[in-house]
Amino acid sequence: MKAKKLVRVLNGVPEETPPIWLMRQAGRYLPEYKATRAKAGSFLELCYNPELAEEVTLQPLRRYDFDAAILFADILLVPQAMGAKLWFVEGEGPRLSTVESQDALGALTADDDVHEVLSPIYETVRRLSKSLPAETTLIGFAGAPWTVATYMVAGRGTPDQAPARRWAYRDPVGFGLLIDMITEATIRYLSSQIDSGAEVVKLFDSWAGSLSAFEFHKWSVSPAKRIVSELKSRYPEVPVIGFPRGAGLNGPGYAEETGIDCLAVEQNTSMADLRQQVPEKLALQGNLDPLLLRLSGSAMTETAVKICDEMRGTPFVFNLGHGITPDVDPDSVSKLIDSIRGIR
Ligand code: CP3
Repeated sequence: MKAKKLVRVLNGVPEETPPIWLMRQAGRYLPEYKATRAKAGSFLELCYNPELAEEVTLQPLRRYDFDAAILFADILLVPQAMGAKLWFVEGEGPRLSTVESQDALGALTADDDVHEVLSPIYETVRRLSKSLPAETTLIGFAGAPWTVATYMVAGRGTPDQAPARRWAYRDPVGFGLLIDMITEATIRYLSSQIDSGAEVVKLFDSWAGSLSAFEFHKWSVSPAKRIVSELKSRYPEVPVIGFPRGAGLNGPGYAEETGIDCLAVEQNTSMADLRQQVPEKLALQGNLDPLLLRLSGSAMTETAVKICDEMRGTPFVFNLGHGITPDVDPDSVSKLIDSIRGIR
């Protein structure tokens, strides 16, 4: 059987027109998503309801010609399953019970119970692997240990991730134990997603850019390397996308050391410059500014075409530099896709 387009590119083979998918392609910019979330009761109930989570994963595929679907879930389900309390404040974002020192680690676990709690997510993946169109690739994902830890330590999103950075500087051994627990849970979480039918996995290190260079190596590169090498030993055929968001110049080193197949890139970094610094076979994914999707218009389509032109002849996956925001007009997503596929 011929590999699907996204998988071919992740294996290092360039395509005439790039495969396309967008971070947060399922979400609040779609009225049908809001309706399904209301039916589920809340965002978390939606994540843990395999039938409705499957439905919202499929919604963007009914509207748009995407090459991939990403499992509908959240990076914070892993800390929740490890024992942290998690809730979402409407219009503000996630809240978690805090873990601020090594003493608090006793309340957390990385054992079988975690995967019992997460079993509905595996069920969503199984359902999707049966219901997706034949040419669509199913992407599973997890938060990278550093990014997950930033939420666990602060109990919420923070502008500069200072609470986790402070603990890591003050007590690297204790903080390292938290990172190790998340790493263990993540290896099993991603393995179970692959066992359930995920064809590609992505590791979101959304706050990698807040780490200083030495700390970046310790808390972003090392855990990712451990996760990727475990996955590669178990599933050598499953491509891994790494997204050390904000890594900039550290991206090529991250890719080389971790062994990922594709480096996802934020909008602040030049994909053309990166291309010069990474092996020919390494796929790059990115990196349209999500603000352009809100503006729509020619600035969006011209920038998208420019990115594709720069990446022509190389293994490249079109995406945004970060997720779609709730204020995006669903029509501008069609316009974006048409401009990339050359239908004007
Ligand atoms: O379509 C997809 O991309 C798949 C589903 C997905 C969600 N979150 C759904 C979601 C994925 C891959 C994520 C990853 C995620 N979650 C990340 C990494 C990527 C990134 O954005 O940097 C992070 C940091 C989180 C944590 C998180 N979840 C935050 C900070 C928030 C609140 C901010 C916001 O956008 O509301 C969430 C909630 C969340 N996760 C929503 C969705 C669709 C919105 C919840 C709602 O419906 O009210």
